[in-house]
Amino acid sequence: MRVGVFGATGAVGKELVQVLGDRGYPVTELRLFASTRSAGTRITTPFGEKTIEVYDPAKPPRLDLALLAVSGDWSKAHAKELVAAGAVVVDNSSAFRLDDDVPLVVPEVNAGAAKGARLIANPNCTTAILAVALAPLQAEFGLKRVIVSTYQAASGAGAEGMEELETGLKEVLLNGGTAKNSVFRHPLPMNLIPHIDSFQPNGYTREEMKVTWETRKIMGLPDLLVSCTAVRVPTLRAHAEAVTIETLKPITPEAARAALANAPGVKLVDDVANAAYPMPLTASGRYDVEAGRVRQSLVFGDHGIDFFVVGDQLLKGAALNAVQIAEALPV
Ligand code: HSE
Repeated sequence: MRVGVFGATGAVGKELVQVLGDRGYPVTELRLFASTRSAGTRITTPFGEKTIEVYDPAKPPRLDLALLAVSGDWSKAHAKELVAAGAVVVDNSSAFRLDDDVPLVVPEVNAGAAKGARLIANPNCTTAILAVALAPLQAEFGLKRVIVSTYQAASGAGAEGMEELETGLKEVLLNGGTAKNSVFRHPLPMNLIPHIDSFQPNGYTREEMKVTWETRKIMGLPDLLVSCTAVRVPTLRAHAEAVTIETLKPITPEAARAALANAPGVKLVDDVANAAYPMPLTASGRYDVEAGRVRQSLVFGDHGIDFFVVGDQLLKGAALNAVQIAEALPV
């Protein structure tokens, strides 16, 4: 397969290249594209040393697969050119996610939706991680309402966000200084920020509404009630989520644990006696979404549970999911 990675020098782009290698994706030719700033840079990949190229819209490359980790504006301007030039495009931006004719795919949940599509959207990171854990619970118990509070890592704001957190932590901890911020609205070290993306007229942020809109589309449940509070926390690359669900059928913690333990893409970590539960420390760098802290909901009684999930934002929340979409496509 001739594969192109667009935005190859960014946090997600680098992971895309790594995941293609780690999973043995059948790459016969790999081309890496980024902005003019990086043009000509040589980088080492699992497929040998490669030179960063700049995309020329007048001459779209001939690719079988294009993985886009670029801005929504770039995707809107160029994704369809790449499709016209023969590629199947998996786009990590929000440009097409809610378009009726573009499938939004988490392979463990709705792989079939990608069938025959030439342009496929990769979901918002928080939503992809959540959907993997909700799917087995929906299948067995039916979902009525979902309430989620997130603890989102700096990587959600890209390599610049990670760098701002690391630099700020050093400044505060080593020099006793004050963390500067330009990527995040407020300094992130020793803080958390209940504000990710722009505020919407209904008081939710766009990040929070993405969780509602995209969960509904991925799960094929257009009327599912989903309320999210999205919070940025000073972790590096794994998003955590506290989830409460109300179910249509009765549910017990034991039955929920069994469903989660058998679900693809989920690792049940739920041994509170030994203080074992999902954490960014253990989920970072891993493919599986950790789920645990399962308990009966005090609010919804026998029709609800509370639980906690953590997934690597750059992997299941982005690059891994995109490569899994590609793997699910007919070659
Ligand atoms: N918007 C997400 C975040 C990242 O800021 O954490 C990617 O979906």
